[in-house]
Amino acid sequence: DTAPLIDPFARAISYLRVSVTDRCDFRCTYCMSEHMTFLPKADLLSLEELDRLCSAFVRMGVEKLRITGGEPLVRKGIMTFFEAMGRHLQTGALKELTLTTNGSQLRRYAADLAAVGVRRVNVSLDTLDPAKFAEVTRWGRLPQVLDGIAAAKEAGLRVKINAVALKGVNEDELFTLVDWCARDGHDLTFIEVMPMGEMGEEMRLDQFWSLKALRVRLEERFTLQDLSERSGGPARYVRLAETGQKIGFITPLSHNFCESCNRVRLTCTGQLYMCLGQEDMADLRAPLRASADDALTEQAIRAAISRKPKGHDFDYSRQHVKGQMSRHMSHTGG
Ligand code: GTP
Ligand code: 5AD
Ligand code: SF4
Repeated sequence: DTAPLIDPFARAISYLRVSVTDRCDFRCTYCMSEHMTFLPKADLLSLEELDRLCSAFVRMGVEKLRITGGEPLVRKGIMTFFEAMGRHLQTGALKELTLTTNGSQLRRYAADLAAVGVRRVNVSLDTLDPAKFAEVTRWGRLPQVLDGIAAAKEAGLRVKINAVALKGVNEDELFTLVDWCARDGHDLTFIEVMPMGEMGEEMRLDQFWSLKALRVRLEERFTLQDLSERSGGPARYVRLAETGQKIGFITPLSHNFCESCNRVRLTCTGQLYMCLGQEDMADLRAPLRASADDALTEQAIRAAISRKPKGHDFDYSRQHVKGQMSRHMSHTGG
């Protein structure tokens, strides 16, 4: 059954985000707590199972696959999986294979990724200040990430920098980030911090820096031209007339973009989350393991999509946080 996946709000599901591991070599404050308990390895889908599941989605019309984590590149043997997905690029069934990474392992993997057909990578980088970087990521080291980004570029990959807008953290680095990206030829997207994980309400409110405010700051120095093009992701883009560079805005809080949602998320244990900001999920591991034939799995996928909710309930208005999720971002890969 290869009919396209359409949800109850007539949205076609063409984008699958896959978290291949909940582990990470960093501990970003807005993503993880310092002491994380990770899943037992036996709970994880094997690379073969991930291949089977993702291939089922591709047959059902998924055209864009983004590999995330945790940090996808710390999963052992991950290139085998990338190679398998690369084959769907060759048949034309898949239009884009990409990943979101913290960059720490890019020096090692950039060339291999390019070889299987990855064209661009999103690298999370919130600050160019080594001390702040160490503070935000706890375990990360900036030079290693910058070197990974350089390696990606050398391998011919396009790089998009993802910066979470954090009040009091990278507010004063707005133009530094923009200039650095212009100089090195990277795209740049800002993301509003979402209330996930177990941080207290207070801290979230303290850190929330609306991209509406960020945009006003940008307009002090640049002329912003709104672009209508979309990448198939949630970002809206502008071009800076002065430099020609493209800046993306991901604004789940200040401008909800759920009406055009085209994606679902698969965790490394085979749970399908229909929305980043909702608890509802469907277990795909059981049907997958129940039979070598994929019919059961396809049925379970369709049943899940038929329950996709309208949107998330995140809200920072009226001075308190609503819709907070106890789930960590590393669980569903953002
Ligand atoms: P491209 O547009 O292809 O570059 O990718 P993308 O923006 O879809 O992927 P990326 O991994 O760069 O996403 C950046 C972040 O945006 C994610 O880590 C999430 O924090 C956020 N995001 C992505 N999709 C959604 C969504 O459906 N809902 C919400 N609330 N946030 C999302
Ligand atoms: N709010 C917004 N973005 C987040 N990310 C992780 N946690 C959060 C959060 N609470 C982002 C990372 C990375 C992507 C995978 O998700 O910065 O770019
Ligand atoms: Fe790791 Fe990314 Fe989460 Fe940071 S945001 S802890 S790099 S998964």
